[in-house]
Amino acid sequence: MNNRIAVVPGSFDPPTLGHLDVIRRAATLYDTLHVLVVHNPDKEAMLPIARRVSLLEQAIAEAGIAGDVIVASWSVGLLVDYAAEVDAGVLVKGIRSQVDVAYETPMAIVNRHLTHVETVFLLPDPAHALVSSSLVRQVAALGGDVTPFVPPAVARLLDTGTADG
Ligand code: PNS
Repeated sequence: MNNRIAVVPGSFDPPTLGHLDVIRRAATLYDTLHVLVVHNPDKEAMLPIARRVSLLEQAIAEAGIAGDVIVASWSVGLLVDYAAEVDAGVLVKGIRSQVDVAYETPMAIVNRHLTHVETVFLLPDPAHALVSSSLVRQVAALGGDVTPFVPPAVARLLDTGTADG
């Protein structure tokens, strides 16, 4: 396992500015970053996984995030199986609140027991601390403006119902 290779996993349904902030900062900390769209069976999906991948690719390019950043998806097994496949030694998660700490801590411990992969938590830019995909889904479903919370590629999709990618 290579501790210079990290995975940023999540549902990304849809990607938010908070996600992009974590990706931007993680990209400066690691040599290679895998942004991994993972199906979460506990959540009803708004966007197909392939669409989330293309939105992340567009958002990362449009934000000018430099470095070796790979966007992929994983639906056939454990997150740690993907990490092992790409030799990643680190998982990176954004932590906005005590709720996130309570949600992420057991997963981090189980993942470390499974394969010794470490989880690194990054604190968000306060500007994005209250943004979540579930709130964005709700605002979009009820016809509100999601522009302040999501990358332009996502705003274009949610405002028009069509995406260029
Ligand atoms: O953005 P989310 O929904 O909070 O991301 C949660 C996610 C998808 C990263 C988590 O559910 C996960 O890792 N799922 C993959 C399946 C797995 O490995 N489960 C065991 C984790 S302890």
